[in-house]
Amino acid sequence: MSAQVIDGKQLATTIDEETAAQVATFTHTTGITPCLAAVLVGEDPASQVYVRNKRKACEKVGLTSQLHRLPATTSEDELLTLIARLNAAAAVHGILVQLPLPRQIREARILDAVHPLKDVDCFHPENVGRLSQGRPRFLPCTPHGVQQILHRSGIPAAGREVVIVGRSEIVGKPLAMLLMAKDSPTCGPTAANATVTVAHSRTANLAQVTRRADILIAAIGQPKFITAEMIKPGAAVIDVGINRTAAGLCGDVDFEPACEVAGAITPVPRGVGPLTIAMLLINTLTAAHEQQASALG
Ligand code: GUN
Repeated sequence: MSAQVIDGKQLATTIDEETAAQVATFTHTTGITPCLAAVLVGEDPASQVYVRNKRKACEKVGLTSQLHRLPATTSEDELLTLIARLNAAAAVHGILVQLPLPRQIREARILDAVHPLKDVDCFHPENVGRLSQGRPRFLPCTPHGVQQILHRSGIPAAGREVVIVGRSEIVGKPLAMLLMAKDSPTCGPTAANATVTVAHSRTANLAQVTRRADILIAAIGQPKFITAEMIKPGAAVIDVGINRTAAGLCGDVDFEPACEVAGAITPVPRGVGPLTIAMLLINTLTAAHEQQASALG
């Protein structure tokens, strides 16, 4: 068997066309062009590429963007001062602080300082809390991208076994919340209502657990960690990993052997990555909507 390889780039292009139309309507009716402010601290080469790609994507759908670059030696207080300025700026609707931050800066202090209405990453405790209670303001970008991939590829989640390998705050945990919810505001109940297992580095008999999955999601950040033997024949395999190795970019799934077992699979690159950015653009538009609504009282 050879798995259907899902084209994340193509899906993202389709979604971006929809977003561009919504941005045009919003701008036409309000006179406001939604704006994303990206904050990049230090010189991490991967982060520089991510931020450049996010800004290019903004331009493609009619959003504006700003880039705020700070040196690697920036103090926590200096970064907090910039966040406070962006929180107060009426022309800025979304704030994205690119991670990782330099070691001298406590990530939680910075992410907690981003105004909840401008928190397009959905990292603020208020927004994570809302998500966990089933009344989200923003949907977290990578988890929402995974849900969109499943939905738009005709792979239902409702009533099925989903195993997520990885329990990070950015992917594993919020993805579990999205897929076990009763409904999805963007994809409907068929894309939610799953039976979700979150496995991790301390899970016993991991292969036994992953082989139960109708949908297996790899988000551990270890190259080729998921081998063909860990996959149930016919399962959908979503690879969230982006690992830089001597041989180039690779995912958390050992791709070629996995293709012989899986029913559908996402590649790396051109899999989940483009969807993450597409969801960020949607959140920036949502942020502009929310701020306009709150200004109108
Ligand atoms: N670094 C890696 N992934 C992400 C993400 O989703 N958001 C931000 N801000 N930084 C990241």
